[in-house]
Amino acid sequence: MEEICLEKIIVEKSPPLHGRVRVSGAKNAALPILAASLLGTEDIILEDVPNLKDVEIMCEVLKSLGSEVAYLDANTIKINSKNLNNYETRYELMNKMRASFLVMGPLLTRLGKTRNSLPGGCAIGARPIDLHLKGFRALGAEVVQNEDNVFAYSDRLTGDMVYLDFPSVGATENIMMAATMAQGETIIDNAAMEPEIVDLSNFLNKLGADIRGAGTSTIKIRGVKHLGGAKHSIIPDRIEAGTLMVGAAISKGDVIVENVITSHMKPVSAKLRECGCTVEEGIDSIRVIGNDHLKAIDIKTMPYPGFPTDMQAQFMALMTVLEGTSTVIETVFENRFMHVEELKKMGADIQVEERAATILGKDKLFGAEVKATDLRAGAALVLAGIIAEGTTIIDEIYHIDRGYDRIEEKFRKLGANIYRKEF
Ligand code: UD1
Repeated sequence: MEEICLEKIIVEKSPPLHGRVRVSGAKNAALPILAASLLGTEDIILEDVPNLKDVEIMCEVLKSLGSEVAYLDANTIKINSKNLNNYETRYELMNKMRASFLVMGPLLTRLGKTRNSLPGGCAIGARPIDLHLKGFRALGAEVVQNEDNVFAYSDRLTGDMVYLDFPSVGATENIMMAATMAQGETIIDNAAMEPEIVDLSNFLNKLGADIRGAGTSTIKIRGVKHLGGAKHSIIPDRIEAGTLMVGAAISKGDVIVENVITSHMKPVSAKLRECGCTVEEGIDSIRVIGNDHLKAIDIKTMPYPGFPTDMQAQFMALMTVLEGTSTVIETVFENRFMHVEELKKMGADIQVEERAATILGKDKLFGAEVKATDLRAGAALVLAGIIAEGTTIIDEIYHIDRGYDRIEEKFRKLGANIYRKEF
């Protein structure tokens, strides 16, 4: 169970967002890289790690397995896993965050066995782990699964071909990590191509791994005997950057988002241009300028380089006030429209049919009491709150804190009337 937090985020109707803001390191790169730190036997220093609940939980997981974890400053973590001694993760930690399952690949290859509680279903869909396990089996591991947990073991993993039926991000990462110290070569076909996979691969190669092809659909991993230490900076969070960019669009503002890798933002930039925003790319920044006549657009979520499912809710918030009728098709997760009911409370006109949503643009939204049903849904409500008449009170914000490093401070820096309050 998630802990119940009595804090809420209050958003008042705000002026057009204006100014510069720096994006934090990527949650979805930091989590697998923290898990991969279990593989090295020397000091690892990770920089630009975002300050998030999920990162805190992953550090707890690492400590419970025998790693030493110390914060050198708010965004720099030093890890030493020389004395890794535990192959089992505790249910309480596992249950708090699905991504803790990413320790399975590293433990399997480093200690020869791993036992984990099964990550429960989560709000946005069943989220099975069959592809992770398919990969471990292909590398020669025995995998025994019962209702509560999954145990995988192997005296010596051996590289092989693994074809992923769907380019799952987590499965690609877990299999890649397991293969780093397997005997011989592993080839992952139909691998996920997300930038966070490239960051993980770069980090593993710094530790001494031999991985080629990350960022394409075929990743080749030649097993090595030992992984050491490294210093690595986490890539910028493209979803946080995208959320701030939508903030500029929805408020008809003018915002420069700094610390971005502009090529990672292509699907988001393209869709913002399509609805009528001006999007200017700098070397490591993007400027988004909104205006009074933004037009309806259609989006369909896809694995990278398609439009990210993690930006779907925020774009839906924008669509509620675009001129005309927009559509969203969610192909990655089966139940990722929970923000619809919340946006409707604010006056949005949205119809959902299975995995498709139709959004009729309105002139205005109205402040309401809403709840963050998941991480990105929470971000969508912040965006809607910025332009809604009156006051929006967002409850269950622990979801937002799982993935955004002080979201209210970033939006406040751009002039939004947003604050956190204890109730
Ligand atoms: C990661 C991201 C998450 C993002 C998602 C899709 C992290 C920590 N989280 O999650 O923010 O929304 O990618 O971009 O990086 N699937 C299976 N079998 C499996 C694994 C996945 O069927 O073994 C399915 C899932 O049910 C889902 C789809 O594949 O429908 C995508 O999941 P996946 O890419 O694995 O997402 P995560 O790695 O969990």
